[in-house]
Amino acid sequence: MSDPRHIAIIMDGNGRWATARGLPRSAGHRAGVESLRAIVHHAGVTGLEYLTFFAFSSENWSRPDGEVRELLALLKMFIRRDLADLHRKNVHISVIGERDNLSADVRGLLVEAESLTRGNTGLNLVIAFNYGARDEITRAVRSLAADVAAGRLDPQSISADLISANLDTSGMPDPDLIIRTSGEMRLSNFLLWQAAYAEFLFVPCPWPDFTPELFEEAIATYRNRERRFGGVEARASCHDKSQALSVAAASDGVAS
Ligand code: FPP
Repeated sequence: MSDPRHIAIIMDGNGRWATARGLPRSAGHRAGVESLRAIVHHAGVTGLEYLTFFAFSSENWSRPDGEVRELLALLKMFIRRDLADLHRKNVHISVIGERDNLSADVRGLLVEAESLTRGNTGLNLVIAFNYGARDEITRAVRSLAADVAAGRLDPQSISADLISANLDTSGMPDPDLIIRTSGEMRLSNFLLWQAAYAEFLFVPCPWPDFTPELFEEAIATYRNRERRFGGVEARASCHDKSQALSVAAASDGVAS
């Protein structure tokens, strides 16, 4: 299989990483930013097209106030400290998620990062901040419904492509590979629409321990997967009867 164009990462396990070391959870998030930096640098050098990080979910506001403040401060510090360097490295930054309930200073920094790097042609770094897929889909539906109500849009012309074009990820390819660290096996409201045919990889180590070597191992695992996009297997080579039966059953299914 060809290399992934778009990898999306759920950076999980910062809190457990810190607790296991007798440190406050905030130390885990700070260590998590170091991992993020290393992976962004590596992906830029190796020529990946799109790299998306789930940095703060629309449900993370329910964490203790101090932790929410820490995560907002880390985002601000990351942009202030790393923006010039990312721009020099030709990284193009976009931020997905709801902006309306973010403070003016955070919104300003997000706009600054996007405007400065708009013309860059290297790695597309996508930061999901105050992001939730159900919220994103709700906003898209609301906008399409408003167009229908205003007579600008015929309901019959609403297609999957039009819905995609109304999501925060408009214009980006769907993720080929979604990695979640820390051993949890769920999507947690991340890219629900876009993940329709993504490959998933759940790695046991917590995010602060995730290295460029593990990232390369994840890509190697992806290369060995077979993606069918709802179709059937390209070649069914059966070595025994039970395998032949399972191939037939899988090929009969609607979903693959
Ligand atoms: C999940 O670990 C991680 C998060 C909720 C936040 C991830 C954010 C960062 C790494 C830093 C901020 C981002 C930027 C772009 C600078 P958890 O706290 O849920 O860990 P646990 O499951 O072990 O408690």
